[in-house]
Amino acid sequence: MELKEFSVNRHVTIRQALEVLEQTGLGLLILVSENGLFERTVTDGDLRRLLLQGVALSDTLESLPKIESIVATEGATRREILDLMNLYSINHIPVINQQGLLVDVLDRKVIDQQILLSTPHMGDAEKSFVEEAFRTNWIAPLGPNVDAFEQELADLVGIKGAAAVSSGTAAIHLALRLLDVGVGDFVFCSTLTFAASSNPIVYQGATPVFIDSEDTSWNMSPYALKKAFYYAEKQGKMPKAVIVVNLYGQSADMDALLLICNQYDVPIIEDAAESLGATYKGKASGTFGKLGVYSFNGNKIITTSGGGMLVSDNLDLIEKAKFLATQARDPAPHYQHSEIGFNYRMSNILAGVGRGQLKVLEDRVNARRAIFHKYQQSLSDIKSINWMPEPDWSYSTHWLTACTIKHDSEIKNVDLLKAFMAEMIEVRPVWKPMHLQPIYKDAMYFTHGDKSVSDDLFEYGICLPSGSNLSEIDVDRVIKVIRKVCATI
Ligand SMILES: Cc1ncc(COP(=O)(O)O)c(C=O)c1O
Repeated sequence: MELKEFSVNRHVTIRQALEVLEQTGLGLLILVSENGLFERTVTDGDLRRLLLQGVALSDTLESLPKIESIVATEGATRREILDLMNLYSINHIPVINQQGLLVDVLDRKVIDQQILLSTPHMGDAEKSFVEEAFRTNWIAPLGPNVDAFEQELADLVGIKGAAAVSSGTAAIHLALRLLDVGVGDFVFCSTLTFAASSNPIVYQGATPVFIDSEDTSWNMSPYALKKAFYYAEKQGKMPKAVIVVNLYGQSADMDALLLICNQYDVPIIEDAAESLGATYKGKASGTFGKLGVYSFNGNKIITTSGGGMLVSDNLDLIEKAKFLATQARDPAPHYQHSEIGFNYRMSNILAGVGRGQLKVLEDRVNARRAIFHKYQQSLSDIKSINWMPEPDWSYSTHWLTACTIKHDSEIKNVDLLKAFMAEMIEVRPVWKPMHLQPIYKDAMYFTHGDKSVSDDLFEYGICLPSGSNLSEIDVDRVIKVIRKVCATI
């Protein structure tokens, strides 16, 4: 709506003012002076009070008292405007520039729109799979959706077997258990990751050793891995497994990492929680290790609201995983257990959601890649930003668009983070490396070079909103904030 459509001056009659109110449906008029300067807001109630005081419908607004209205000044942030709206319980607020001219009238419905980092994006098919589960009363345990989801995912990534579980974390835990990791064992793990990659090592009573990233992929550095193996060999303490994390939708350099691990005969667990849909040299990410893990957490590229999948070409391992994930029940008519198991399986309802989501995986990958490219292209003139690199061998899903701010730049991460918060846009620093976490402060750590690459990525890195359901307008809002911060330096 044009500003002039709800602006009136003191020469209009009360009847005309009421008619404008009626037409705009905003519940608010803006009273402006002859020369367009903002005077005050006028509501239904203000006009009603004039009528009750005996002013006639045909009289003008001359007698309307002068009051201080609640206004926002041009340039105020979304957060400041919303705080004002909340403080005064109002749904519209005029915006006034330095000259006192009305420049906008903001609506709470528009202002109160937060942009989140990555939210669930449902397709069309999920409901029918879930309804089928309800219709057949296959609510729990397990059921046809679980079997089909496992098969469909395995076919999609080109692996022999899959076990659907309650979370990616559960899948990592099972993988460690399947590889017999236990008390006194060491497990190498990428440092630049979410705590769920390494915490299961501790669940098993083993000790994590953290490995730095390389700059070219932000994933595990083969060089740092080699250093860790040399050290372990010297100490006579070889790791039982290596957890390689594929960060933000991008595979690690699997050939280089496999070469090293195979040389020492140590199996890889590929934490592909963030990289379903990505490929490495044309092969699906998550299918390179002895065991691979995907997550269907609500923020992932596809979701079951919460869930995970353990995959492997070794069907015996998958069979054992299913056994362990259902409380390790021995084949007996009564409840008998010869091993400690877990309650880690996925429900038939959630697997129905997963089946629907798998159908749109390719669309979601394309959408996230398009968002990454839009950021990259729209901000290509801003030299302070380095985008997460995508090596030749990688086809990243760009699950999250990640970038770093150049060290010598006058823009600082904290300024960007503050600006995004003020505009109600959720962004996150790059993962805080595990070797810097208080809980892992005593853990051993091997760097890529003299300096730690992951420390740097954490210090200078930011993840931008990347959900496949972001609108063009949302992405433009994010870009505008970056431009605004850059314009101030
Ligand atoms: C790298 C990584 N590993 C593991 C997980 C754990 O997955 P979940 O949340 O499904 O337990 C996540 C995400 O949450 C992750 O980002």
